[in-house]
Amino acid sequence: MNYPQHIAIIMDGNGRWAKKQGKPRTAGHYKGSENVRDIAIAANDLGVKVLTLYAFSTENWSRPEDEVNYLMKLPSVFFEAYLKELMKNNIRIAFIGEMDKFPAETRKVMENAIEKTKDNTGLILNFALNYGSRREITLAVQKIASEVKDGTLEVGDINEQVIENHLMTADYPAIDLMIRTSGECRLSNFLLWQLAYSEFYFTEVSWPEFTKEELVKALDIYANRHRRFGGL
Ligand code: IPE
Ligand code: IPE
Ligand code: MG
Repeated sequence: MNYPQHIAIIMDGNGRWAKKQGKPRTAGHYKGSENVRDIAIAANDLGVKVLTLYAFSTENWSRPEDEVNYLMKLPSVFFEAYLKELMKNNIRIAFIGEMDKFPAETRKVMENAIEKTKDNTGLILNFALNYGSRREITLAVQKIASEVKDGTLEVGDINEQVIENHLMTADYPAIDLMIRTSGECRLSNFLLWQLAYSEFYFTEVSWPEFTKEELVKALDIYANRHRRFGGL
C-alpha cells in the first residue's frame, strides 16, 4: 500500500460537536484530545512516520478567555492521561509553534513528554501549538537575515533548501497528506510552505468523531491518487 509517511491534520469541529450534544465547547476539546490518543495509536499501527496535529493556532488567542485558558491546560491533562500508553507504543512526542506563551506548568509537562519519549522509534506525534505559518515564515526570514548580517550566509546562497532548514518542520519529511475535519475547506494559516505539493482530504466528519476507519478511508483515497509534482 502506498501510504503517506507524514500526515498533517487540522483537527476542526470540536465546538460544533459539543454544541450538537448540548455540551459546552470545552467538552468538545476534551473529547477531541481523547481522540488524539486513538488516532496517534492508529497512525502508528498503520506505519505512518510523522503525524502533525494542529491543536492551537496563533489566531485562536482571539477566542473567549475561558476557552483559551482551558486549551492552555489541555496538554497537561492529555499527557497525564496518555503519556505512559504513548510511551508503550514507542511513540515520540514533538512540538512546533512558540511554547513561551504557555503557562510554565504546561510547558514543564510538554518538555517532560519530549524528554521521556526522545529515544522512541515509532510514530513522531508532532503537535502544532501556538503555531501559525505566517509567523513561522517571518521567524525564518529573521534568522536568515541575521545570518547574512553576521556574514555566515551569502544572499546568493539562499535557496529553497535553506528556507526549509529554517522552518519549524526542518527535521521532518515532506507532508504527503493534509486532512481537515468538519467541513471547512481552508488552511487557516497551517503549513503554507510545506503543503505546496501535499494531497488534501476534506471530510464533513468532526474531529471528535474521526475514527481509525475514517483515517484508513483517507489513506486509501490517498493511495489511489496520482501525484505528478508538475510532471506527467
Ligand atoms: C478545533 O475545533 C480545535 C481548535 C481550534 C482549538 P474548534 O474549536 O475550532 O471547533 P469548531 O470549529 O468551532 O466547531
Ligand atoms: C484551525 O481551526 C486551527 C486548529 C484546528 C487548531 P479554526 O477553527 O481556528 O479555523 P477557522 O477559524 O475556522 O479558520
Ligand atoms: Mg473551528
